[in-house]
Amino acid sequence: MIEDIRKQFQQIFGKQHQIAAAPGRVNMIGEHTDYNNGFVLPGAIDKNIFVGLAPAADNRLNLRAVQYGEAFSFALDQTGPVKGWPTYLLGMIHMLLPEKRLPYGLDVVVSGEIPVGAGLSSSAALCSAFGLALNEIFDLGQTRLELALAGQKTEQQFAGLQCGIMDQFASLHGKAGHLIKLDCRSLAFEYIPFDFPDHRIVLVNTMVSHLLASSEYNLRREQCEAGVALLQRFYPEIQSLRDATEIQLHSVSTQMNPVDFSRCRFVVEENQRLLDGCVFLKEKNLEGFGRLMYASHEGLSRDYEVSCPESDFLVEETRKIAGVRGARQMGGGFGGCMIALVENDAVESFIASIQERYRIQFLETPDCYIMNISEGAKIL
Ligand code: GLA
Repeated sequence: MIEDIRKQFQQIFGKQHQIAAAPGRVNMIGEHTDYNNGFVLPGAIDKNIFVGLAPAADNRLNLRAVQYGEAFSFALDQTGPVKGWPTYLLGMIHMLLPEKRLPYGLDVVVSGEIPVGAGLSSSAALCSAFGLALNEIFDLGQTRLELALAGQKTEQQFAGLQCGIMDQFASLHGKAGHLIKLDCRSLAFEYIPFDFPDHRIVLVNTMVSHLLASSEYNLRREQCEAGVALLQRFYPEIQSLRDATEIQLHSVSTQMNPVDFSRCRFVVEENQRLLDGCVFLKEKNLEGFGRLMYASHEGLSRDYEVSCPESDFLVEETRKIAGVRGARQMGGGFGGCMIALVENDAVESFIASIQERYRIQFLETPDCYIMNISEGAKIL
């Protein structure tokens, strides 16, 4: 793929250019914990967004997306958000360049292999790839963490999603064969080997385009914050849900609005599931880890209410198929991909079976992807 991209970009630019690649991510467990200052456990995947850059002949930002056959051109003083994917590039320029605009025009070509809208963080990958390329071409001296934070602010301020740091961090810090156990408060992290040669990570795309996702996502964040505000009245030391125990939460249950309570319960339990899950992974106990994945899905569906009929159906069906250790909906919610841990020998029959079951129910065949945990973003 990388050689094809080089050739493709060479043909388009026909001049000196720079290419950066940044991957999407999976998250094994720990959903909606990042913006609650808890832990997450993502890994970079072997599917990337590629961004090529070269100085332009005119004084403009000229953008082109190979797959969509789309082209846009912006004046260099265009500094606010716009509709569609160019907003991510404008956001990164705004966050990274000292004068908040480019010193000269750029030709930018974007290409990619991450399915968009599948909950694999293609937008974070786009920001990471473009950020890395800008860093290189303008010698900005930004660290990977600073690039990730710029990507998060871009998502928040230029795309309106009040996201946490997980996706951008994973795209920039990925390590082959390792998950990243990230403490979203201190931003300290530990690589945890994901070394299970007898198992594969299989993603099943619900094929649901999650229209509600960003407004509901922002609402979940507000509900968690409302829960923290109430908890603080009784336990002033609690700064975020990461600090709350299940006992503390239950002690205020009668005073808390029941919806906020369910949201908070999910986050507190999910953060604990992640910590328990890391112990299971270190002990090479995939049975135990798989049970936590199922419990995570139940919480996402019942308490956090970010699932959808397609995700619930897929997860439930995996329980009936041999060789599956665990499964759950992954990412922000309302569709996207289900992540499953499947025995090597059962992968083929698993994919055939889950596709058939879904097709009978929803009259469409879901895409499936076998994922390898790979390196983070790089300059090619
Ligand atoms: C999206 C956000 C992340 C995280 C997940 C849910 O991917 O971008 O910050 O909150 O949802 O875990």
